[in-house]
Amino acid sequence: MSASFEVLSSTGSYSVMIESGVFLRYLREMSNAVILSDSFFAPALAAAGVSATFIEATENIKSLEASPKIIENMRRLGANRRTELVALGGGIIQDVSAFIASIYMRGLKWTYVPTTLLAMVDSCIGGKSSINVGSYKNLVGTFHPPVRVLIDPELAQTLPIDQRVSGMIEAVKICFCRGAEAFDRHLSHLPELETNTVDLEEIILNSLLAKKWFIEIDEFDKNERLLLNFGHTFGHAIEGASHYAVSHGIAVGLGILCALAFEEGRSIRCQLAPRVQRLATHLDEMIRKVPEIAGVLADLDLDEVLVRFESDKKHGSERFTLILVNEHGEPVIRQIEKCAAIKSELKQAVHTTLVRYAR
Ligand SMILES: NC(=O)c1ccc[n+]([C@@H]2O[C@H](COP(=O)([O-])OP(=O)(O)OC[C@H]3O[C@@H](n4cnc5c(N)ncnc54)[C@H](O)[C@@H]3O)[C@@H](O)[C@H]2O)c1
Ligand SMILES: [Zn+2]
Repeated sequence: MSASFEVLSSTGSYSVMIESGVFLRYLREMSNAVILSDSFFAPALAAAGVSATFIEATENIKSLEASPKIIENMRRLGANRRTELVALGGGIIQDVSAFIASIYMRGLKWTYVPTTLLAMVDSCIGGKSSINVGSYKNLVGTFHPPVRVLIDPELAQTLPIDQRVSGMIEAVKICFCRGAEAFDRHLSHLPELETNTVDLEEIILNSLLAKKWFIEIDEFDKNERLLLNFGHTFGHAIEGASHYAVSHGIAVGLGILCALAFEEGRSIRCQLAPRVQRLATHLDEMIRKVPEIAGVLADLDLDEVLVRFESDKKHGSERFTLILVNEHGEPVIRQIEKCAAIKSELKQAVHTTLVRYAR
């Protein structure tokens, strides 16, 4: 199977192709391109006789300080305004490459080849780049979509289990937010982690078509696209407090469960809608596939999680901004008063959620 579609953006449309083997075919056709690659692929590219600039996929590299070295290296390789950048890697390489592509000689065209499941099902479309500044994650960035996204599901075969779970959780979150059809289709693919590449192609396509709706209707994150932050305020707090030992998608899954526990803890409504319960059950099954996080969660400092929760840039000065669910089971943006009672309920929600997965 192969699939392709276009994503509309303010800077023009770009194509997305999902096909096993597409990356190697593209490599053979390429000339005048500078490749920025996750160092994980150094042996594979060397074997294919392709030279590239290799980058360790760590959060430190997503920084203003790390950029000049990469930029200078591109210049040494002769990159000029007509050079096309090709980025091969997960979200870290994507963020670095999109950022550099947007500023190098005031902007280069670039092609993105996502290699983590999370990047394949989620971050590869949307056009955002995010760079960390000091201890602030994703504080600065640009909108600079690639000219094409080439998704080769075969590249996902080498991913460890936590990376697979991480991607699947972002995918189910997007599909849940999009609505019943996308959500049911995702669950009907029985997204087992050992899925063959055909199933994987369908899971990726379903998730990206759902995300396409959000980014086309709200490219700059003002309304509908904000719903995709479901689970992220708690999730980023858990991810950060664990010093990234809990991978992003798994932290988001835990974050969604925290948001639901917070919702349940408030006396407004005692029962979550059936589709929300299906989501919670599914997330629980996914998170339990990674028992290694138990020790990390047991050591997590709840107060630090709460401090990080409160420092989220989406909150206002008087109110927290949270994505919760309404009585129909749809995600909604809610503003919640910052007061001692609410903070205690938030802490309780994090505690009851994490304790289920901690040793
Ligand atoms: N720009 C966006 O829209 C956006 C959206 C979501 C997340 N992000 C960012 O993405 C980053 C997380 O990215 P990620 O989760 O995709 O992973 P990653 O880029 O952090 O990579 C995770 C690990 O997997 C390895 N890896 C990559 N591909 C592999 C493969 N095919 N086989 C085996 N190992 C492989 C990497 O070397 C690394 O060790 C975060 O910094 C996050 O902020 C950006
Ligand atoms: Zn995310």
